[in-house]
Amino acid sequence: MDLKKQIALDLEHILSEDLNYEQIYNLLEVPKDSTHGDYSFPVFSLAKVYRKAPNMIAEDLAEKFNSENYEKVVPVGGYLNFFLIKENVSKDVLKVILEEKNHYGDSDEGQHRGVPIDLSSPNIAKPISMGHLRSTVIGNSISEIFEKMGYNPIKINYIGDWGTQFGKLIVAYKKWGNEEAVKANPIHELLELYVHFHEVAETDPELEEQGREWFKKLEDGDEEAVELWKWFREESLKEFQRIYDMLGISFDSYNGESFYNDKMDRVVKMLEDQDLLVADKGADIVNLDKYDLNPALIRKSDGATLYLTRDLASAFYRIENYDFVQALYVVGNEQAIHFKQLKAVLKEMGHDWSDNIHHVPFGLITQGGQKLSTRKGKVILLEEVLNEAVSSVRSQIEEKNPTLENKDEVAHQVGIGAVIFHDLKNDRLNSFDFNLDEIIQFEGETGPYVQYTRSRCESILAKANWTLDQNVPLSLDDVDSWEVVKTLNNFPNKVKEASIKYEPSVIAKYVIELAQKFNRYYSKHKILAEDEKQPARLALVYATSVVIKESLRLLGVQSPDKM
Ligand code: ARG
Repeated sequence: MDLKKQIALDLEHILSEDLNYEQIYNLLEVPKDSTHGDYSFPVFSLAKVYRKAPNMIAEDLAEKFNSENYEKVVPVGGYLNFFLIKENVSKDVLKVILEEKNHYGDSDEGQHRGVPIDLSSPNIAKPISMGHLRSTVIGNSISEIFEKMGYNPIKINYIGDWGTQFGKLIVAYKKWGNEEAVKANPIHELLELYVHFHEVAETDPELEEQGREWFKKLEDGDEEAVELWKWFREESLKEFQRIYDMLGISFDSYNGESFYNDKMDRVVKMLEDQDLLVADKGADIVNLDKYDLNPALIRKSDGATLYLTRDLASAFYRIENYDFVQALYVVGNEQAIHFKQLKAVLKEMGHDWSDNIHHVPFGLITQGGQKLSTRKGKVILLEEVLNEAVSSVRSQIEEKNPTLENKDEVAHQVGIGAVIFHDLKNDRLNSFDFNLDEIIQFEGETGPYVQYTRSRCESILAKANWTLDQNVPLSLDDVDSWEVVKTLNNFPNKVKEASIKYEPSVIAKYVIELAQKFNRYYSKHKILAEDEKQPARLALVYATSVVIKESLRLLGVQSPDKM
């Protein structure tokens, strides 16, 4: 039940001649100070029509409201303030959550329609960067949110597994490589080889030529070249997999750039047939002047295809195989132009479904205010960061709760959760600073704080030997539970908002607020006191636990029952 909607409908009855439902709904606001009511309706926009001072209008309207839906409706200045009936609303809200449990907030809006989500997409033989980490956790969360909204998200890890660099890598490996070393530490070793190649190539230009030759061989399907490339790819993927396993994130497809090798000719041919391809200094381009964009480079003078050409092929693949209502690309903001060009070329080709392609950009992670450079060995760094988070949490647990069972598992859930939560609580376009010590605190606006709040709920329920029963009295009327109830009631709206904005931070901020409000309630009320309100208080604890757990799940963060 959307409380705002209910008020808007009631207002519509009275105001329908002057304002429509939509306008009323958008005007309704939540007062900063809740002693001014649960919702407030500004009447200023009616002053012209009614030719009256706003405070008069508010008074008149208040009189017309004798609805039993409200405790009171009070005119204050140019506002009409609504006070809901706590007993009724708390009962209704708790009843729904007790019934629906983790399905509370589910929607069928998406009608199971496909939403491919391009996420993570690191480049093989190179370390996963912090940017790829962001793409992974943001994309994963958006996928969970879309699933809850009833869509069918398809998580695609569009691995960067093709390009001239593989020719160079093959040359370097054949000259200086060592199979055992690559197996033991693939990305580190391959990166060393690649770096060494460039060092030597500076004085020996012959090497670049060899690199080109080997890439040509690879493109022509030469057995040795393909074998080596496959092996580099596999070893890299294995290493990436370790990080994905730690994060608890999986993918529906690993179709990366190489998957489109045989699917680009068709795109080029379509562009030719539509007379969209223009020769320009030996290369082929699509003019995008009318979109205020630089021309899209489709084919280089040596016939080689480009990043954009592959993405065109992959867009066709996605519309044809997933029949998408939306296709999302969770990729750093620095690639904004690339995705604009992608959409523009498709639009030029007459494909209106290009309007449903959305680049979902995000900002950088910095450290001490500095941009993180892609230093070599970063993949190990990333793993180190995750491991460090886990071990710091492990020692905090040792201090706070030495008798806890399965400490290692909990430390993992909390440590990894802390890193993910920190990434997602910021608006995705903001850059943010990475400071591990802050991230893993059990106090403040952190993942561990939220997880801890839920484990507190679970321990209260365990102490009370609580079992689910919808038929107990569920009414609450104190101001602290009221804040929790209203927040719980807001969850479905927040899920929807997060899906519209592609913004997991909506959920992260929401669950922080819920945890804070619950903790205020907890500190002021004796939840376990044996009086007639006890069942309702415990139901509130249960509902809070359910919604925290579900919110965290949407973020890709686990919820240990005890910590
Ligand atoms: N591999 C690319 C990179 O690391 C990201 C790929 C993003 N996805 C895409 N469909 N272009 O920059």
